[in-house]
Order: sequence, then structure tokens, then C-alpha cells
Amino acid sequence: MAVAVQAVSLSRRFGAVEAVRELSFEVATGEVFGLVGPDGAGKTTTLRMLCGLLDPDQGRAVVAGMDVARRLDDVKDAIGYMAQKFGLYGDLTVEENLDFYGDLFNVVGKQREELKQRLLKMTRMEPFRARPAAKLSGGMKQKLSLMCTLLHRPQILFLDEPTNGVDPVSRRDFWLILEELVRDGMTVVVSTAYLDEAERCHRIGMMDAGKMVLLGTPAELKAAMPEKCYSVKSANLRATKHALEHRPGVVDVELNGAELHLFLMPNAAVLDVLGDLDVQAERITPALEDVLIAEVRRLGSKAAA
Ligand SMILES: Nc1ncnc2c1ncn2[C@@H]1O[C@H](COP(=O)(O)OP(=O)(O)OP(=O)(O)O)[C@@H](O)[C@H]1O
Ligand SMILES: [Mg+2]
Repeated sequence: MAVAVQAVSLSRRFGAVEAVRELSFEVATGEVFGLVGPDGAGKTTTLRMLCGLLDPDQGRAVVAGMDVARRLDDVKDAIGYMAQKFGLYGDLTVEENLDFYGDLFNVVGKQREELKQRLLKMTRMEPFRARPAAKLSGGMKQKLSLMCTLLHRPQILFLDEPTNGVDPVSRRDFWLILEELVRDGMTVVVSTAYLDEAERCHRIGMMDAGKMVLLGTPAELKAAMPEKCYSVKSANLRATKHALEHRPGVVDVELNGAELHLFLMPNAAVLDVLGDLDVQAERITPALEDVLIAEVRRLGSKAAA
């Protein structure tokens, strides 16, 4: 396995805040690696250290085989970084923004024209090339930011919440583009607040308070969840939820569409828990969302203890 990105015990503090604490993980070449975690978990700080935009207090980052602290210019040539708030110029058109970033990366002439054409086609933004960026929809703005990031043909792409606030259809479009790039050999490290997007990643790291608290493929994380997960159907979901909430063995009960999701301690027997209730219960594989929420719950109860 060729390693594209390696974080080795990275730490960074801001005053009293330990934003990232001895963080280590690797991303393989060609992988889509997702960083998830609550606000302030340290995702942006991690991405910025990996891209050489922020110096770690301790530890090191190796990207595309190069030590980021020692070979920053070469690393910058090899990577693309799309910041949480990417800088588009609102009064410049789509094409002018691309030209601006082309100049910045020194991508010129025929090469630039060809690449621009390909990117506009891939993102289906061709019809909007003369529209000022300020007048694009949220999803289109993110696609333009991605195009600008791709202009110098990076091998490794770092994206910080690239689809935040974007509607579901545009988010799916954005991911189809990412999947196409990955098929062409790109490595992607992406932070996201959307767990349906996390499901699309090959591997996920969940951060909390500057640490990696879960790491694995979506299937591994689901299989490793200690709580047992059931779908429960009944004529009156609210009453059933209320009845179940405080029974021994129950970790949590949540409304999920037209059913309840019931989480039991590993040693609890579902029939004992349900007792006399008139319901249908079926063991289910948890969704990634269930796994991550359960982890947050565990961390919360540890912190409170
Ligand atoms: N430049 C800075 N100066 C001071 N504190 C900072 C700075 N950057 C980050 N922090 C703090 O470090 C912690 C981690 O922040 P970071 O932005 O990395 O989190 P995040 O996981 O990206 O959160 P979000 O999901 O809200 O984007 C937070 O407590 C934040 O307030
Ligand atoms: Mg962030």
C-alpha cells in the first residue's frame, strides 16, 4: 500500500485550547478518507497542518512522500486545498476566477485552456462560464472552488467541508465528480458534517476534542459498535418510546421516520426489554449516524463521570 498522507503524532494548541492532540493516521494512495466530528473537534486544524498552512507544535506530516515542514514548495505542487471558506471573487465570472487561479498556479497557455474546458465539462458548468461568481447557486460556487483547486492537477486533494449548506442534489453531483477524480488516481481527504457523505468514504476518522476516537471503514465501524440496534414499529411510536426509555438495558431510543431505533446494552435481551409491549422489533445494522452518535454519547458520559 502506497501511503499518500501520514500524520505522525501531530499536536497543535491555540492558547489554552488543545485543538489537535497527538494525532496519528495514514491515508493510502487512491483512498477517499473522511474526517468527521463535532464543531471544534480539530478537523480544520488537522487539514491545515497536513497542507503546510499551519505549523504543528509537535509531530510531523508526510504528504506525497515528502516531509511537509522541509519541502513545503514541493508539497504545495502536489496537493490541492479547498478551504472551508474558499476565496472566490464575486464580481469575476466563472471563467475569470479560473484564469485568476491559473495565473496563481502558473498554469498557462494551451494547457490551461484544455484543463479549463475539461473541468467545465466534468462539472457541467460550461453554460455558466460568463456568470459572475456572486450570482451562482451555493452548489455551483462549490463546484467552481473545486475547479480552481484542481487547476494545477494535484495528486492529493484536501477538502474542508466542501458541501456545507449545499442542497442534496448538488451534494450528490459534487461527490460524483470526486468519484471520477478518484478513478483517475487522485487521493482525497475530506471533512464533512454529512454522514451520508461519510458513508461514501473508503475510510473514516472521527475526531473529538483533538483526538481520533474512531477509525475504520464504514462497515468496520458498524460491526464494532457495542450496542445492539433494533428497528421497532408500533401503533403509537411516542408512547412506545416513552415506555422504553427508562427500562433496564436501554441505552437510547430515537424516532427514525415511521419507526423507532432502539439501542440496547450488549448483554440485554430484547424480549426482556420489550416485555408486554405490543410492538414488532427487528435487529438491524446501525447506520453510520447511529455509530457516531453512540460514540458521542459514550464520550459524553465518560466526561460526566
Ligand atoms: N486560529 C485560531 N485561533 C484560536 N483558536 C483556534 C484557531 N483555530 C482553531 N481554534 C480552536 O481550535 C479548536 C479546533 O478548531 P477547528 O477549526 O480545527 O475545528 P473543526 O473540527 O474544523 O470545527 P468545525 O466543524 O466547526 O469547522 C476549536 O476550539 C477552535 O476554537
Ligand atoms: Mg472546520
